[in-house]
Amino acid sequence: MNLHPLLPDLTGPDLAIAWAPLEALSGDPHPEEWEDIASAAPNRQKEFVAGRQLARALSDQLGLPPATLRRAEDRAPIWPIDRTGSLSHCDTLCAAAVGKRGTVQSIGVDVETIGRVEQKLWPTLFTEKEADYFSSLAPNTVALETTLFFSAKEAFYKCQYPLTQKWVGLQDVEITRTDHHSLAIAPTRGAAQAWHAAPIHTVEIVESHVATVMLLPV
Ligand SMILES: CC(C)(COP(=O)(O)OP(=O)(O)OC[C@H]1O[C@@H](n2cnc3c(N)ncnc32)[C@H](O)[C@@H]1OP(=O)(O)O)[C@@H](O)C(=O)NCCC(=O)NCCS
Repeated sequence: MNLHPLLPDLTGPDLAIAWAPLEALSGDPHPEEWEDIASAAPNRQKEFVAGRQLARALSDQLGLPPATLRRAEDRAPIWPIDRTGSLSHCDTLCAAAVGKRGTVQSIGVDVETIGRVEQKLWPTLFTEKEADYFSSLAPNTVALETTLFFSAKEAFYKCQYPLTQKWVGLQDVEITRTDHHSLAIAPTRGAAQAWHAAPIHTVEIVESHVATVMLLPV
């Protein structure tokens, strides 16, 4: 399987993160996992199976035994007790992270196609401060930055959910750029919690796609 490792500075014997083209991740689904997706549309089945194939390959890399990855009623993946992780897919590719539970408290991964965040969506997706920041950017950087900010909110959501079991809206958090490779997140109401504290790493994985990753170590 041709996996493309992501964020090598963050990963190691206890944490693996990678992406791969969806086409490279086809294969026989596990019968129990298939129960969770049997009635979905073919494209949805394809991405669901791809995410599981990638998670299995990353678990294998870490020396973790094969295990099923069922989907809970709330659509979150049910990770086995010895590991945690995160999955994301878009039209052509899939990304995943798997970490050993003793080292990784939670992780959120998201991939997005650059340029889908049109300006008419800004009031829904972003706070006023975020929109003002985008307006101050050079026009040729706006598509990348808006995609990264949106992706960061999705990565944050997936990272915080296993800890809080709470839904968080797009206006409930605000992203700021820290440096060229990372973003920060803060709640727009109330005090920041431990799960807001970690940086959100940004990666341009290919010309057309970006990934963001938020890692909360133990
Ligand atoms: C869950 C959600 C983040 C998924 O994002 P998406 O861009 O639609 O899709 P992605 O392909 O990136 O991610 C889908 C994967 O996320 C995972 N996922 C779904 N719900 C999850 C949850 N509550 N917690 C953690 N992971 C979750 C699943 O593994 C899913 O893939 P699978 O069904 O094939 O297993 C999004 O649908 C959602 O519900 N968001 C809530 C509101 C929001 O966006 N808040 C942002 C502000 S913090």
